[in-house]
Amino acid sequence: MKLLAIETSCDETALAILKIKGPATKPAFSVLSHNVASQIALHAQYGGVFPAMAKREHAKNIVPLFEKTLSEANLLSLLSQKQHPDKLQYVRMSRLEKLLEREREMYEQLVPLLSRIKKPKIDAIAVTTGPGLEPTLWVGINFARALSYIWDIPLVPVNHMEGHVLSFLAQSKKKASTKEQAPKNNVLEFGVCDLEFPAISLLVSGGHTEIVLVKDWGKYKVIGHTVDDAVGEAFDKVARMLDLPYPGGPHISALAEMSRKNTEHTQNNAEKNSSTSTIDYRLKTSDFVLPRPMLHSGDFNFSYSGLKTAVLYHIRNLTGGNKRTLTDEEKSAIALEFENAAIEVLVKKTMKAMKKYGASTLLVGGGVAANSHLRNELARMCKETNTDTHTYTVLFPTRELSTDNAIMIGIAGGAEYMKKKKGVKYTSKKLTAKGNMALS
Ligand code: KG4
Ligand code: ZN
Repeated sequence: MKLLAIETSCDETALAILKIKGPATKPAFSVLSHNVASQIALHAQYGGVFPAMAKREHAKNIVPLFEKTLSEANLLSLLSQKQHPDKLQYVRMSRLEKLLEREREMYEQLVPLLSRIKKPKIDAIAVTTGPGLEPTLWVGINFARALSYIWDIPLVPVNHMEGHVLSFLAQSKKKASTKEQAPKNNVLEFGVCDLEFPAISLLVSGGHTEIVLVKDWGKYKVIGHTVDDAVGEAFDKVARMLDLPYPGGPHISALAEMSRKNTEHTQNNAEKNSSTSTIDYRLKTSDFVLPRPMLHSGDFNFSYSGLKTAVLYHIRNLTGGNKRTLTDEEKSAIALEFENAAIEVLVKKTMKAMKKYGASTLLVGGGVAANSHLRNELARMCKETNTDTHTYTVLFPTRELSTDNAIMIGIAGGAEYMKKKKGVKYTSKKLTAKGNMALS
C-alpha cells in the first residue's frame, strides 16, 4: 500500500509518501518521497513561532509541496487536455469550498491542481492531529480531509509524539531498487525491528520533555514530563540571551561543542589523575555552576524554567546589570555549562527509568535528539551501565529526522493502518486538532 503523511503541528510543513509492505505485525517501509518546508527563516526574525503567521505559511505552502511530493514519488499523473475529472469529482469539487471555508488560500490553490491531475495511487492518508499549535494543525487536517473527500481515501489520525517515538526506525539508507522505476531521490528503506519490551522512550523537543514507558508497539505510558518549560524551549531561550539566532538549540550546541573541545586538552590531562566521571569533572572545571533541577526529585519529572532563570542571573552578574555585552568567551562558557546541566538531568533520570522498569532499549526522539552531547552521553551511560547479564542499547533517528518531518507520521499512521486495515472518514470527530493531545 501507499500512504501520504502530513505534518503541520508547528513550523514545518512536511509531506511524505511511504510504500508499506509485509505482515501487519512487522511492516516494511520505503520512503518514496519526503519534503519539509521550514518556516524557520520567517520566525527567526521574531525569535519564536507566532501561530497565526505559521498557519498562513502552511496554507500557502502545502499545495505546491504536495504536487512536488507526488511528482518525486512518481505518482503525479496529469489529465490529458481531452480528459476531465469524472462527474463525481466535479460534484465534490463544487462542495469543497464549504469544506475548506476556513482555508481560502489552500482552496484556491487546490482546485486548479485537482482539475489537472488524475487520482494518485494512494491508499491512505495519515495526518497529525495533535499535540501542537491548533491553528496550524487544522491546516494539515483540512488538507487531508479535502483529499480524502475528493478521492475517497481513508484517513489515519496520528499523535505527533508517537511519530517521534517511532522515528528511530527510519535508519538505513539504501539506493532505489533497479526493478522498479527509481524515484528521483534515494529511497530510504527500513522495517519494524525486533524490540524487547518494555522499552523507554525519551522525547525531547521544543514543546515536550517526556519519559515514556513503551509497553509494546503502540502501547505507551508517560511516566515523567516537564513541569514547566521543555528542554528545547530552554535551549531556545538561553540562545536568545546569548544573541544567537532562533531556533537556538543547534547554535548553543555548536558553541558548547567548541568550548568542550578547547578544554579537552586540559581535561584529558586532569582526567588521568582523576577517578571521577566526565560529567562530574566538567562540573568542577566550569567557572560557574548551574543547577541540575529536579535531579534528585525521586520521580521522572523535569523542570527547565529555573535553569533558564539561573542563566539570566548569571549574565546580569557578569555584565553588572547588562551594562556591557558578553564576550565570546563568556558566551561559550555559558553555552557549555548550560548544555552540560540540561543534558545531565535528562541522561541520569532516563537511566534511572530504564533500571526501574527493567528496560534494555532506549528510543530517543524530538528535535533535541539531534544534540551531539546528548547522543554521546546517553551512549556512554548505556555502555558504562552494561553488566554481564544486561545490555543497554540506545537508538536515535538520523539527525535530519530528529526534528519534525512527515516520515515519522507515516510510520506511526502506516503501522496503525496495517493493523486495522481501515482508516476513518473525512467527517470523523477524530479529525479534530488537539493542542494538548496526550500519548497513551
Ligand atoms: O521536534 P522539533 O523539531 O519541534 C517540536 O516539536 O518542538 O524540536 C525543535 C526543538 C527546538 O527547540 C530546537 O532548538 C531543538 O529542537 N534542537 C536542538 C538541536 N537541534 C534542534 N536542541 C539542542 N541541540 C540541537 N542540536
Ligand atoms: Zn516535534
